[in-house]
Amino acid sequence: MANHLVVAIDGPAGAGKSTVAKLVAARLGFAYIDTGAMYRAVALVAIRAGALGDKAAIEKIAADINISFRPEGEINRVFIEDGEITGDIRTAQVSAQASFVSSLPGVRAAMLVKQRALGMAGSVVMDGRDVGTCIFPAAQVKVFLTADSLERARRRYVELVAGGQTAELKELQKEMDARDKADSERAIAPLKKAGDAVEIDSSRLSIGQTVDLIVALAKAKGKTGESVL
Ligand code: DC
Repeated sequence: MANHLVVAIDGPAGAGKSTVAKLVAARLGFAYIDTGAMYRAVALVAIRAGALGDKAAIEKIAADINISFRPEGEINRVFIEDGEITGDIRTAQVSAQASFVSSLPGVRAAMLVKQRALGMAGSVVMDGRDVGTCIFPAAQVKVFLTADSLERARRRYVELVAGGQTAELKELQKEMDARDKADSERAIAPLKKAGDAVEIDSSRLSIGQTVDLIVALAKAKGKTGESVL
């Protein structure tokens, strides 16, 4: 394999990016960076600080925030200086606010710097919305992972119910569609397939099949010895 490989996995909410990205990273022995969790962390701190109406304050939170990941088996634990936020960043309120804070130019600029630094530290699998288009436009492997809207909502529903939360499938589908629309239509770094990304529709693929496809793409690219740097 090349010395340093970046595997970028972008796509809409609920397409299975984080589940798949985590497994691809484990198979390849790469670090896994969940860029969505970083926007969620900014949103959570802004909510806790009562700063949601103040764009400058949110941008300052993004510049100052120190986010770290500690993978433990199936769980990718997320920390800020105040402590662990793994569960706190998965509420519906944080999902909606993460989409909002991610549209602020200062927040995106701050996250870009942090995400590039994380990706420079070694080979990574990074998932999000703009990894292949903006963060690492020269990533050797780019995947745009999709699934149809109802299937994505159904997966999120199963996840929430398994975690002991209550949910309504149609309501979830509406929330996710609204978030994808906002993420796709924002001015800076919108959710968009990179021209050179491989699109994988996972609606009728198992997690294992999707992981196998991406690992094969990474192994094929790794042999060319291209570097992302
Ligand atoms: O992947 P997720 O649902 O955890 O992401 C939360 C929000 O963060 C999502 O609505 C859009 C935003 N996001 C982004 O703008 N750019 C990224 N690279 C990752 C997430």
